[in-house]
Amino acid sequence: MVWLVKRIAFGVGGLAVLILLLLAGVYGFSSRRFERSFPAGRPESPPVPTDPAAIERGRHLAQVIAKCGDCHGQDLGGRVFIDAGPMIGRVYGPNITKGKGSVAESFSVADWERVIRHGITPEGRALKIMPSEDFIHMSDSDLGALLAYLRTVPPVDRGSEPTVVGPLSRALYLAGKFPLLPAERLSPSAGHTEVPVGVTKEYGEYLANVGGCTGCHGPGLSGGRIPGTPPGVPPAQNLTPAGIGTWTEADFFRTLRTGVRPDGSHINAFMPWMSARNMTDDETRAIWFYLRSVPPRAAGTM
Ligand code: HEC
Ligand code: HEC
Repeated sequence: MVWLVKRIAFGVGGLAVLILLLLAGVYGFSSRRFERSFPAGRPESPPVPTDPAAIERGRHLAQVIAKCGDCHGQDLGGRVFIDAGPMIGRVYGPNITKGKGSVAESFSVADWERVIRHGITPEGRALKIMPSEDFIHMSDSDLGALLAYLRTVPPVDRGSEPTVVGPLSRALYLAGKFPLLPAERLSPSAGHTEVPVGVTKEYGEYLANVGGCTGCHGPGLSGGRIPGTPPGVPPAQNLTPAGIGTWTEADFFRTLRTGVRPDGSHINAFMPWMSARNMTDDETRAIWFYLRSVPPRAAGTM
């Protein structure tokens, strides 16, 4: 009996040591990449207007199109965006107002540009989760309007908490299954152009990029599991003509405005329809035109 207990004890001990080694490796390698410093690049400082129309455009971008408020709180004073437990992690959108505890109190225009479009802090650290792969497409005039609005946001005094990445997410990240640091993946060729505002598929494409439709539904909009999302989040749907092909424009409007599909079922709240429903009719129609114009693709292929 004693020998059996000893064997088991050694076995369990060995397993614990193995798990500890594995954890140490996962933390070591992921932390090395988290702490990597990104070179400064060429600073860009688009002009920041001060007229009320530009500020209103900036507010619309922040709350409805780019949806900064979804992750940073409607007052932009910071909030917990996802809390998926110690194994997966906790995502905190920090305070980005001018109040105490803000991380962006003393940002220059070039700092803002780099944070928003490239996902890199003024110190050169790659931001986690912050969707710069969508925002890299933001035009200079929209970025200027956004910054004009951010200057008018009332200061909120609230300390920011760090985003914590659990061991499971770190392992997935190291395995290339979780695009945690947009800055690592941003292609230098992805760029921003001024697309004229209008009810056109070109403007719809611009809105779909900046607004994250392509970020979650895939560059080809065919949907599929969104990498790195906690269990319980359904895959994004296929928005190409092969997916929502039988929908009418009215169906599309009603679904985005109410969160209820033509068949009466409800859309999961991870799909940000609560913000997207405040897009104007023209914007919603432009996106619809764009969705109609993309090649049909089987679900989850791109
Ligand atoms: C999907 C969620 C999400 C959205 C949408 C989002 N952010 Fe963030 N943002 C984050 C997270 C998470 C962090 C913190 C990441 C970190 O510390 O690694 C962050 C960090 C920041 C920072 C801090 C940079 C620093 O130096 O620490 C700024 C500024 C910022 N975001 C601005 C914006 C603006 C402006 C928008 C809208 C155009 C926006 N964010 C939209 C999730 C989001
Ligand atoms: C944060 C990720 C995310 C973003 C950003 C996002 N979606 Fe979604 N979307 C989802 C998920 C996940 C679902 C599936 C929800 C479900 O199955 O209940 C979905 C479902 C939908 C549906 C329902 C389709 C169907 O067949 O049931 C439509 C329409 C849609 N999204 C359009 C859009 C548009 C347009 C945009 C850009 C303005 C967008 N989505 C941005 C994640 C996202």
